[in-house]
Amino acid sequence: MKNEEINVKNAKWIELCRIPDGIDGTLSVAESVKDIPFEIKRVYYIYGLNNPHAVRGKHAHRKLEQVLFCINGSCKVGLDDGENRQTVLLDQPNKGVYLGIELWHTMHEFSENCILLVLASDLYKESDYIRDYDEFKGYLGDK
Ligand code: TYD
Repeated sequence: MKNEEINVKNAKWIELCRIPDGIDGTLSVAESVKDIPFEIKRVYYIYGLNNPHAVRGKHAHRKLEQVLFCINGSCKVGLDDGENRQTVLLDQPNKGVYLGIELWHTMHEFSENCILLVLASDLYKESDYIRDYDEFKGYLGDK
């Protein structure tokens, strides 16, 4: 699973630079449009993932694009474009996954110290979510 190619539509790896500063740590940078393939309009983060059975996501977006980073710890991300499914491991702070439109996604198997950082292309709009899997399949079928 580690470093595997992503074969699901509308998803890809995003690798940020790592700038090591010796014993003083490492810095990674995400610049809007340059490193992230859209203008970043919103940043949110998810933490307190202490429940080993927690499953987040379980939705797709109509128009929203996002990049998901696990900046501490690790988790798995399930990707489903309606035809192909894949689960990838996020365990490097500089390596994120691009979640494009019309992509059913889940996040699960969080390590106890997991912190997810999400960069999004738009402000929060509940109307952009498809939260029902059958509706997602129907939405794809109608196109
Ligand atoms: P949701 O996007 O479903 O989280 P996840 O994909 O991680 O499972 O959002 C969880 C709740 O937080 C939901 O009630 C909507 C709310 N929320 C906002 O109010 N603003 C935001 O920017 C986000 C991402 C979520």
